[in-house]
Amino acid sequence: MNFSISDQNVIEIETDCLVVGYLAGSQQPGITAINEATGGLVDRLKQAGDLPSDSGKTLMLHAIDGIAAQRLLIIGMGKAEKLDGNGYVKAIRQGGKALRNSRARRAHCLLAEIPVPGRELAWKSLQAALALDHANYLYSATKQPKDSSPPPTEEVSFPAAEGLTKVLDRATAIAAGIQRCRDLADLPPNIATPVYLAETARAMGETHDGLEVEILDEQQMADLGMRALLAVGQGSANPSRLIRLSWRGGAPNDQPYVLVGKGVTFDTGGISIKPRDNMDQMKFDMGGAAATIGTLEAVARLKLPINVEGVVAAVENMPDGKAYRPGDVITAMNGKTIEVLNTDAEGRMILADALTWSQQFKPAAMVDIATLTGACVVALGHHASGLMTQDDELAEELLAAGIESADRAWRLPLWDDYQEQIETPFADMKNIGGMPAGSITAGCFLARFAEGQRWAHLDIAGSAWRWGKAESASGRPVGLLTEWLIGRSA
Ligand code: BES
Ligand code: MN
Ligand code: ZN
Repeated sequence: MNFSISDQNVIEIETDCLVVGYLAGSQQPGITAINEATGGLVDRLKQAGDLPSDSGKTLMLHAIDGIAAQRLLIIGMGKAEKLDGNGYVKAIRQGGKALRNSRARRAHCLLAEIPVPGRELAWKSLQAALALDHANYLYSATKQPKDSSPPPTEEVSFPAAEGLTKVLDRATAIAAGIQRCRDLADLPPNIATPVYLAETARAMGETHDGLEVEILDEQQMADLGMRALLAVGQGSANPSRLIRLSWRGGAPNDQPYVLVGKGVTFDTGGISIKPRDNMDQMKFDMGGAAATIGTLEAVARLKLPINVEGVVAAVENMPDGKAYRPGDVITAMNGKTIEVLNTDAEGRMILADALTWSQQFKPAAMVDIATLTGACVVALGHHASGLMTQDDELAEELLAAGIESADRAWRLPLWDDYQEQIETPFADMKNIGGMPAGSITAGCFLARFAEGQRWAHLDIAGSAWRWGKAESASGRPVGLLTEWLIGRSA
């Protein structure tokens, strides 16, 4: 989807669809102008009770006398006293589907006119662009749309305003990162293997000047002692890879921000095999990897003046004669021993070595992103990513970036009190901590591989995709991470 600027007025603009928001009691110059040019159309709709007052509900009107646009899409914004930034984005994502499902290819967006407390025009324009782009997404890698299906929206213009070019450039870059993330996460596990993720990263490195890519194969990882990572992949016919995307937009000596993504391209659970129902959903277990790659896509397009490393641990967790087993004790790259009590707690195994390896970059901060625990979905559902860190300042940065990007996280404690749950007589730690606080004990495990670092963990098990919904991969938390990195560049 292209974003552009138009200085034509709302009455005369020849577009396939004018998109406005309805918020009872608000003053919006565009809507007032449309109302006047159409002899009181909006007033009449209001009197008839036909304006969509619920958030995300829509009304699509065609061939209206008085305006040049072929269609008028009105998106409900809910109650004015309840509207906040998050509600604004949510309403547009949902209402934007009416645009996606129409025959319109070009639209003109007046949504930034809607008054949202505490939000300026630039923010509203950026988020409207991203939300319309989000609604425009359609999975097509292995299913082509029918000729008769509605076409995607190709172009959305915005009324001219100061600073808007920069805002829309930013929206284009972030949208590409989110799209990259969703495309990868939605792919089936027979296509999106560890090698496929590596090849995708390599291709990105060739497209973007200044983005360097390094890929480690199993032999190279074995030489480095990454036994925890390799253990998870050893039951799979698809070889494991460690992928590094390196963006060096800052000074050579600037410490980089390091993202570390869990890339389990399919998680059967291994020998501790998962139940059959919904196992297909475990194709999304590389959501952290997809978000890492997607964020580097956005960072490279934004040409951020900082250094950013994206590290992806890519493996497939399968049961097999060579698979690692419950009871195994494995020595990780940093020399710590791990008793494997459940081969389905594999994400922390691969992240352990990826976190150890990442410390060579002397990070300014390190954030891992992982679909790590079902317990996180129990705790937070699909609305918030779980944030765990012992660094309050880093927590504040990430939480604020989540609010700013409408891609919110919520903090869970990472107190040492929980560490005792992963003690065992047979190794330095075990890889499961029992039923209580399953997300936190997973975080505690990771903390042992990030000692002395400014580090945070994002559990995206609930936020990376909508369980069972055709809509699927969400592209989260590319928005949060990109916003955080933009903030580090300021
Ligand atoms: N990838 C899963 C976590 C997961 C489950 C994410 C469902 C999204 C939806 C992870 O590898 C896993 O299996 N975790 C186990 C940990 C347990 C064995 C300690 C879990 O959550 O059950
Ligand atoms: Mn698992
Ligand atoms: Zn997993």
